[in-house]
Amino acid sequence: MAPLTICHPFIDSSARALLRSSYPLSASFFFASHEASCAPRFASRCSVIYRSIVRPILFALPPETAHSVTMTALRALQHATPLLRLTRASLLPHDPALVVNAFGLTFPTPVGLAAGLDKDAAAFEAFGSFGFGFVEVGTITAEAQPGNPRPRLFRLPADRALINRMGFNNRGAAAAAERIARRRSRQTLLGINMGKTKRIPNEAAADDYAASARLLAPHADYVVVNVSSPNTPGLRDLQQVSELRKLLIGVRRTLDAACPGRRIPLLLKIAPDLADADIDAIADLAIELQLEGLIATNTTIKRDGLATDAASVAACGNGGLSGAPVKSRALDVLRRLRTRVGTRVALIAVGGIETADDAWERIRAGATLVQLYTALIYDGPLLARRIALGLAQRARAAGFANVADAIGIDAAR
Ligand SMILES: Cc1cc2nc3c(=O)[nH]c(=O)nc-3n(C[C@H](O)[C@H](O)[C@H](O)COP(=O)(O)O)c2cc1C
Repeated sequence: MAPLTICHPFIDSSARALLRSSYPLSASFFFASHEASCAPRFASRCSVIYRSIVRPILFALPPETAHSVTMTALRALQHATPLLRLTRASLLPHDPALVVNAFGLTFPTPVGLAAGLDKDAAAFEAFGSFGFGFVEVGTITAEAQPGNPRPRLFRLPADRALINRMGFNNRGAAAAAERIARRRSRQTLLGINMGKTKRIPNEAAADDYAASARLLAPHADYVVVNVSSPNTPGLRDLQQVSELRKLLIGVRRTLDAACPGRRIPLLLKIAPDLADADIDAIADLAIELQLEGLIATNTTIKRDGLATDAASVAACGNGGLSGAPVKSRALDVLRRLRTRVGTRVALIAVGGIETADDAWERIRAGATLVQLYTALIYDGPLLARRIALGLAQRARAAGFANVADAIGIDAAR
């Protein structure tokens, strides 16, 4: 086996000895996999292991239990600093072709974790160490809230999809701010996604978002206003331009007041179920308010064209559908936004991205960055790394020095 130092000269033999003595079992597994990581097939081997061993175990559990087990493991990794560093050094792609600049930030790769998995900002460094170029935590609300009653998360394996009606379960903005602040040396680029507290009526939404923004601003590399979840009653009404203008102006002012001298990028996440005219209106508003970005899209309330039988789908009940079935609409929304905003507002594509080809298509359609959620549940945590490496290959094969050179090349001019 190739010595570790060939791959990462800074992980020397004394560091290895320290890791082996601190975490004997994990370290032996890790060095074996790390050494293997020098081989190009490592990620695909891990994917086979995930699909044949880990996923069957997790899928034998109720979806939310599987989620809790995974988060417990990731929180443990987040606290095991030497192991975390080693994971990051091994799994985060270090390829200049992947480095992307957007809204004043430098992303090591354009592939990020979408909001909803790390709702409480409890394991973002662990996700970052698995090869995500950035992590969006949340949705976080100003007040802690339990979310909807369980069950509220369902798998649709035949469609590589999920249905959820979690309802912004989270411990609130103050707790999240404290948790993030405790991590002194942050490695992972962090987006913070904010939503409305359920008990607050829409008329008071602006103050509620501002309360979250005040607490979270100092800890965010970028902030997202989420008005597109289908699981908080009435929330999507805030996507009307008149409401949205008030809300976004309020959040912008709060961010500027909370962090004078640093303009925190402000992005808006929209639903795939908006009518085309509403998408255009939101795009125009984004330009008017000089938003740094738009995120397209959240989950859909539609249930069209599913392979899962209708009775099983109906038994899941209300909620947002994610994964492969939203791919086509999310791409359409992205294309529409790009046509409207050009290069004036950065676009983050999310919704049904499962492969490097999907991500490459979104980038060519105008996305600067992409995010994943549902495909991770089906393909495992190394998917982000595989997609990023696949993007670098595709960029080079197309004659580009950097993935960013391909942003929008398929967009209507
Ligand atoms: C279980 C679950 C919870 C989610 N929670 C949130 C959330 O809290 N805030 C948010 O903006 N999006 C949330 N999302 C939406 C995702 O961030 C993403 O926009 C959507 O799932 C489409 O991407 P995907 O097909 O890759 O999953 C959630 C999605 C899932 C599956």
